[in-house]
Amino acid sequence: MTPSSLALALFIFLWSGSSNAALRSYSFTIHQGSRAPDGVSREVYLINSQQPGPQIDVDEGDDVEVFVKNQLPVETTIHWHGLLQRGTPEMDGVPGVSQLPIAPGSNFTYKFSVKNEYGFYWYHSHFRAYYNDAIRGALMIYPAPSRIRPFESLASNSAEKSALLQAERNATSVLLNDWTHSVSDTIYAQYFETGTYPFCVDSLLANGLGRVQCLPESILQAGTGLGLNLPLEETTNTSVASGPMTMATMAKRMSTGDTVSADNIAQATTLVHTSMASMPVGISSSAETIPSSTMPVSAVSMASKTSSAAMSAMPGFNASSMAPENCVNTTSPLLTIDSNYTQGWLALNLVNSGAVSQLAVSLDAHSIFVYAADGLFVELQEVKVLSIAVGQRYSVMIKLDQQPGAYLLRFASYPGGDMQQVIEGQAIVSYNAESLDTGVEVLDDSASTWMLKNGSAVANVTELDPTLLRPFEGNNPRSGPAGLTKTFLVSQTGIVTWVVDRYPYSEPTIPVLYGNTSDGWQANTTIHMPFNSTVDIVMMIANDSMDTVT
Ligand SMILES: *[C@@H]1O[C@H](CO)[C@@H](O)[C@H](O)[C@H]1NC(C)=O
Ligand SMILES: *[C@@H]1O[C@H](CO)[C@@H](O)[C@H](O)[C@H]1NC(C)=O
Ligand SMILES: *[C@@H]1O[C@H](CO)[C@@H](O)[C@H](O)[C@H]1NC(C)=O
Ligand SMILES: *[C@@H]1O[C@H](CO)[C@@H](O)[C@H](O)[C@H]1NC(C)=O
Ligand SMILES: *[C@@H]1O[C@H](CO)[C@@H](O)[C@H](O)[C@H]1NC(C)=O
Ligand SMILES: *[C@@H]1O[C@H](CO)[C@@H](O)[C@H](O)[C@H]1NC(C)=O
Ligand SMILES: *[C@@H]1O[C@H](CO)[C@@H](O)[C@H](O)[C@H]1NC(C)=O
Ligand SMILES: *[C@@H]1O[C@H](CO)[C@@H](O)[C@H](O)[C@H]1NC(C)=O
Ligand SMILES: *[C@@H]1O[C@H](CO)[C@@H](O)[C@H](O)[C@H]1NC(C)=O
Ligand SMILES: *[C@@H]1O[C@H](CO)[C@@H](O)[C@H](O)[C@H]1NC(C)=O
Ligand SMILES: *[C@@H]1O[C@H](CO)[C@@H](O)[C@H](O)[C@H]1NC(C)=O
Ligand SMILES: *[C@@H]1O[C@H](CO)[C@@H](O)[C@H](O)[C@H]1NC(C)=O
Repeated sequence: MTPSSLALALFIFLWSGSSNAALRSYSFTIHQGSRAPDGVSREVYLINSQQPGPQIDVDEGDDVEVFVKNQLPVETTIHWHGLLQRGTPEMDGVPGVSQLPIAPGSNFTYKFSVKNEYGFYWYHSHFRAYYNDAIRGALMIYPAPSRIRPFESLASNSAEKSALLQAERNATSVLLNDWTHSVSDTIYAQYFETGTYPFCVDSLLANGLGRVQCLPESILQAGTGLGLNLPLEETTNTSVASGPMTMATMAKRMSTGDTVSADNIAQATTLVHTSMASMPVGISSSAETIPSSTMPVSAVSMASKTSSAAMSAMPGFNASSMAPENCVNTTSPLLTIDSNYTQGWLALNLVNSGAVSQLAVSLDAHSIFVYAADGLFVELQEVKVLSIAVGQRYSVMIKLDQQPGAYLLRFASYPGGDMQQVIEGQAIVSYNAESLDTGVEVLDDSASTWMLKNGSAVANVTELDPTLLRPFEGNNPRSGPAGLTKTFLVSQTGIVTWVVDRYPYSEPTIPVLYGNTSDGWQANTTIHMPFNSTVDIVMMIANDSMDTVT
């Protein structure tokens, strides 16, 4: 891709916009504040005084404009997680790649179209780990009415079908995330100082609400081992990299065609986003441990932002030498999702918008019907426990077929890789119950609890099988042979050093998108791809990588 072809693509894009697309405008002011989402007060970064930030609601085909004013003392950008940015790669929100960071006191206006895109997405800061200081929110693109939904098998008649469509339209977004009592810069600094991966969080939140729950030692121990039966000390050693999870191979069929999209730029910089559509392709036995969304598994984000995936402790790190943490239970309010019993169905848009913890989600006494993954409709799966890696999204339909009441929506950290912590958070789904504030009991019956505190399903309960996720109507990977196949070996060799093949990534001062004026243009980690071609990308995680990208 050359800058002139980029300009041409932009030009074509601007003049081909559909005339009936609505322009949806939002204004974000990002600023400091203080909040106690789990009962413990700390400094946070907020958007318009909210955490999560305002939900962006648009219809398929709309134009979206978000004015972002940065009133933080630090730089920021906003990344629209999962959106393709076809024709507008400069709106992807990745510093060093697509834009300069937004300096304190200055502003930036994001403008893009969601033509031919639909479903549930999220946005977050893409600078350092600031999204975990609460700069994140939901983005919903209501699918065009003409899109075929996968609800047919759930509806016994047309009234039920319209109830399902109504529930889908009225879906509640639930942002789940792990939470710490220290700001991300403090954790980042400690990690630098000690080389010890910060593998404990303080609580789990749903839409910015949760509690500190100090679990008994016997339950805390139920997470160690990851089925490997290793004591904690050994699993925190990098020797975990010799376990069965290490050889993570993923392939993605990419196209550099049509328009200049963010994904294309991704290839040019080895910022590789994987998509749900690629799931069935070339996934190894450790598929469930591989982020299948457009989560930042990139050298870009990990090297310079430490924004998401778990990283390992330093070799030889001794967990028992860590100071014990004081844990005090809190009783702060939980998120309550009111649903309509008469309607019969409740839809939830779930995202793991956290920093390090893989989560498992379950609603007591109910089945959940997964109907979309990373925004796109999939063939239905009825499950009781749903595992969600950092960055991933699932939309689920719940049949309100139990006694009217209040039920716990549980989300637990699923021990894996560097994150062996056992911790559970809860929200409440209520239908036709009196206000919970007046003391109505939440049903908490172990016979209808599908999940252990460590996120494992109880015996004989169905879990989502990600290898069975199938695109529903379209969204198929390109057919035909690839014009080009690229294989990369990715490795974390230092706290913030990520190496692609043998070249360490460093964030360019001038974004790569700016072309040959960028200091990243000639970097060994920038790969120049032929325009409008189909490319297969195979990524391998080095066996000795500090983080095995679980
Ligand atoms: C946004 O920044 C520009 C300078 O780049 C400035 O002229 C403008 O007044 C700013 N707008 C707001 C609303 O702060
Ligand atoms: C704290 O809460 C957890 C989970 O609800 C409970 O198991 C534990 O007993 C509580 N600890 C104290 C000291 O109250
Ligand atoms: C969760 O705890 C159960 C019971 O102790 C144990 O069998 C299971 O292996 C644990 N799951 C994980 C992922 O550690
Ligand atoms: C991409 O290539 C296909 C044929 O392989 C062609 O039909 C299409 O017009 C090309 N698109 C662009 C934008 O050049
Ligand atoms: C950690 O791993 C290294 C080699 O990978 C080994 O030499 C060392 O003994 C291990 N430390 C512990 C505490 O297991
Ligand atoms: C780890 O630290 C504990 C407490 O400081 C110590 O007793 C133990 O010997 C250490 N283990 C190793 C392998 O260094
Ligand atoms: C829509 O959702 C809200 C809760 O978010 C609920 O109170 C309302 O009853 C729902 N409406 C319908 C028609 O289901
Ligand atoms: C609940 O759903 C019924 C049936 O669709 C509808 O008549 C009623 O208005 C809804 N209630 C609320 C509070 O939205
Ligand atoms: C699980 O299912 C198997 C086979 O259907 C059955 O033998 C077993 O008793 C069940 N276990 C539990 C805990 O329900
Ligand atoms: C940089 O790109 C511009 C625009 O494509 C081109 O005119 C110029 O020759 C390039 N310069 C170098 C040193 O490659
Ligand atoms: C790319 O790597 C080679 C060594 O393999 C090195 O000589 C060269 O300077 C590197 N290029 C850049 C721009 O860093
Ligand atoms: C990792 O190790 C396995 C065997 O232990 C080997 O087959 C595989 O090629 C190695 N993978 C990489 C990427 O080095």
